[in-house]
Amino acid sequence: MNDLKTNNLPRHIAIIMDGNGRWAKHRGKPRLFGHRAGATSMKKIVIATAKMGIEYLTVYAFSTENWKRSTEEVSGLFKLIIQYVASELNELIDANVHINVIGDYKKLPDASVKALDKMIDKTKYNDGLKFNIAINYGGRDDITRAVNQIIREREINNLSFKTGKTEVTEDDISKHLYTGKMNFDIPDPDLLIRTSGEQRLSNFLIWQSSYSELIFTKTLWPDFDEEEYRSLIEAYSNRDRRYGGIKEEIK
Ligand code: IPE
Ligand code: IPE
Ligand code: MG
Repeated sequence: MNDLKTNNLPRHIAIIMDGNGRWAKHRGKPRLFGHRAGATSMKKIVIATAKMGIEYLTVYAFSTENWKRSTEEVSGLFKLIIQYVASELNELIDANVHINVIGDYKKLPDASVKALDKMIDKTKYNDGLKFNIAINYGGRDDITRAVNQIIREREINNLSFKTGKTEVTEDDISKHLYTGKMNFDIPDPDLLIRTSGEQRLSNFLIWQSSYSELIFTKTLWPDFDEEEYRSLIEAYSNRDRRYGGIKEEIK
């Protein structure tokens, strides 16, 4: 149930779940210990989002740049995905969550791809929260793929010749992104949250977030809880979104 002190809820929240490594370091533990705590935090936030009646949640779990980390950390993260699916899938099904993955996740090891495909398949008829996990996702990669897809389609259909249409429009690009109408049809995020105090997008949804409200919190992701989440959503609801226009005078 939504007992937030606002009716102005975001339709789509995007989260950069950052700070697992530092959280573990503060405790003298290996980075993977932090990622495990981060997975628990993610589960709680997904359920909280579903209960608030928010339509879309997209989380950044692994970027196209995260391959730069040690093989130990990278393969540990991929194994964690399998464990997550095994332990949380039933609860997510019960919460009526519909899961999708954005990003080139097929490049992960087979067992992780299989676990993700299972999660997608078992939740595909759920019509509650649309929960999108960004895995092997990069915003520049997203845009580059979209453009290449447009070129391929035009080559196949000889479209520019038939229609005389040569210019690629913003709408063409939007439609071909992972989030676009040709794929998952996810609206642009209204609110984008990043934990851990870093104030950058790190290649997350760079096209889609051009008018998102950004909130940065110092809290490390494993410490991020429902109470803080609710307070950030309330802060969002008081923001004045103008999209380059002028605020209408209240008569
Ligand atoms: C975010 O936490 C999770 C992933 C990138 C997978 P980090 O692992 O980046 O944690 P910090 O930033 O090193 O603390
Ligand atoms: C962004 O965090 C990626 C995820 C949270 C999955 P990073 O920790 O990889 O970002 P940088 O390196 O600090 O910019
Ligand atoms: Mg980080």
